[in-house]
Amino acid sequence: MRFGQVFSSTLALAAGSLARSVSDVQDTTSLTASLTSTTSISVASGCSFSNALTATAQSDLDKLSGCQAVDGDIIITGDLGSASIANVKAIYGDLQIYNATELEFFAADSVTTITGSLKLHGLTILSQLSFGSLTSVGAINWVTLPNLGETGLTQVTECNSILISDTIISSLEGINPTNVEVFNVNNNKEMTSITSSIETISNALTIAFNGDDTTVEFSDLIWANNITFYSVSSIDIPEIVAVNKSAGFFESSVSSLEFPLITSIGGDLTIENNEDLSFIDFSNVTAIGGGLVIVNNTELLSISLDEIKSVTGAVVLKGDFDNCTMEALKTVRGSFDLDTTGYADCSPFKKLSKNGGIQGDYTCKAATKKTSSSAKSSKTSSKSSSTASSDSSASSSASSASSTDSSSSSATSSVSSISSTSKAGAAALQSTSFFGTMAAILLSLL
Ligand SMILES: *[C@@H]1O[C@H](CO)[C@@H](O)[C@H](O)[C@H]1NC(C)=O
Ligand SMILES: *[C@@H]1O[C@H](CO)[C@@H](O)[C@H](O)[C@H]1NC(C)=O
Ligand SMILES: *[C@@H]1O[C@H](CO)[C@@H](O)[C@H](O)[C@H]1NC(C)=O
Ligand SMILES: *[C@@H]1O[C@H](CO)[C@@H](O)[C@H](O)[C@H]1NC(C)=O
Ligand SMILES: *[C@@H]1O[C@H](CO)[C@@H](O)[C@H](O)[C@H]1NC(C)=O
Ligand SMILES: *[C@@H]1O[C@H](CO)[C@@H](O)[C@H](O)[C@H]1NC(C)=O
Repeated sequence: MRFGQVFSSTLALAAGSLARSVSDVQDTTSLTASLTSTTSISVASGCSFSNALTATAQSDLDKLSGCQAVDGDIIITGDLGSASIANVKAIYGDLQIYNATELEFFAADSVTTITGSLKLHGLTILSQLSFGSLTSVGAINWVTLPNLGETGLTQVTECNSILISDTIISSLEGINPTNVEVFNVNNNKEMTSITSSIETISNALTIAFNGDDTTVEFSDLIWANNITFYSVSSIDIPEIVAVNKSAGFFESSVSSLEFPLITSIGGDLTIENNEDLSFIDFSNVTAIGGGLVIVNNTELLSISLDEIKSVTGAVVLKGDFDNCTMEALKTVRGSFDLDTTGYADCSPFKKLSKNGGIQGDYTCKAATKKTSSSAKSSKTSSKSSSTASSDSSASSSASSASSTDSSSSSATSSVSSISSTSKAGAAALQSTSFFGTMAAILLSLL
C-alpha cells in the first residue's frame, strides 16, 4: 500500500478481510458483517497488514500509534493484563481478541469505525472495555466474557450483526443500529431487560436464556426474518407486521403473545411449553408458510386463529384448551392433530378433512360438551389408533358421540417435519458459541 493512498472502496477491502476471518473461525452468525459505507481515511505505509497484525504484548499495539487508519485485521492474544490502541480512527478489517485469559481491561477510544467484526472470545477475566468513539462496526461478536458487565460502547449506530453470549452485561445501552441481519443475545444472566429501536432484522432475532425474568421490547421493529425466544418474561413488539420465516416462543413465562398487526408468517409458528401463557393474539394472520404448533401451554384455554386460511405444513394443537376455532381455515397441506383434555369442537375440522382441505392425516381428540365426564373417559379408552381410525370409517353420525376422530391418508407431510423447529433453533444457537458455553449445554438438553 503506497503512502497516502486513499481508499475509494473500503467495502471491497472490508469484505476481503472478513471472508478470511469468518472462514478461520467458522462463524455462521456474522453473515455479511461488513459495512457498506464508512469513513475514508488514508492508510499510511506500515499500517497495512495483508496477513493480520497479531499482537501478544502492548508494545506490538504501540506500533500502531502512527496509524490513523489500519488496513487488515488486528488480532490480540496471549498473556496481556491490559491493552489499548491509541490514535487509530479506522480499522478496515476485524479487531479480534482471543483467549487472552489475563486481560482485564481493553481500550480503543479513538476508533470510530471497524468495518469487519469486533470479536471478543474467551476473555475470562475481562471486566472493562472502552470504545468511547465507536459509531460503526460490521459486527459485534462477543462470546464467553464471563466478567464483563458493561458494553463500553456509547454510540454505535451502525452495525450489521450483534451476537452477545455468555457475559454478565446487564444492558445493551450504546448499541442503537436501525437495521441488522442478526440480533442474538443469549446466556447473559444479568440481562433483565432488552430494549431496542431496531426497525428491521433481515436474518434472525434470537433471545434465549438470559436473566430469569428478561423483558423484551422492540418498539420500532417492523419485520424480522426469524424470531426465536426462550425463557423470557414478556415480549412487546407492537409494530411488527411480518415474520418472513419462522416465529418460535419456547419455555417462557410470558402471560400473553400479542401480535395483532402480523398478517403473515412465512415459516413455522411454534408456541411450546410456556406455562403462564393465557392469551395469544395472532388475529390478523391469514397464512402460515410452515407448520402451526401450539403445545403444552397449560394455562392457554382458548385458541382462536380465525383469519388463517392456509397452513403449508402440519397443524399440531395440544393442551388443555376448551375452545379452538380456525373459522377461515381452508387448506392444511400437512397433517392435522388436535388433542385436548378440554372441550374443543372437532366437527369443522372433521368436515375439512372429509372435503380434502386437510391433505395429511387427521386426528382430533377432545371432550364433548354434552357429557363431559363420559366423554373424558371415552377419550382415554380410545387411545389406540385402531379404535380411532375405525371411528372415522364408521360414519359422520358417530362424531357427536365420539370424542376421537381420525383418518389416515397417503399424504406423508408428517408432524415430525414440523416439530423439529425447536431443534433447528437450538442448533442455530449452539453454532454461535465456540467455547462450549452454557448455551450449548442447556440447548443440548432440549
Ligand atoms: C482459543 O482457545 C481455545 C480453547 O483452548 C482453542 O480451541 C482455540 O483454538 C483458541 N483460539 C485461538 C485463536 O487461539
Ligand atoms: C419481509 O417482509 C417484509 C414485509 O412484508 C418485507 O418488506 C421485507 O422485504 C421482507 N424481507 C425479506 C428478507 O424477505
Ligand atoms: C430461519 O428460519 C428458517 C426456516 O425455518 C430456517 O431454515 C433458518 O435456519 C432460520 N435461520 C436462523 C438464523 O435461525
Ligand atoms: C390488521 O392489520 C391492519 C393493517 O396491518 C390493521 O389496520 C388492523 O387494525 C389489524 N387488525 C387488528 C384486529 O388489529
Ligand atoms: C409436553 O409436556 C409433557 C409433560 O411435561 C412432556 O412429556 C412433553 O415432552 C412435552 N411436549 C413437548 C413438545 O415439549
Ligand atoms: C370460542 O372462541 C370464539 C372465537 O373467539 C368465540 O366466539 C366463542 O365465544 C368462544 N367460545 C367459548 C365457549 O369460549
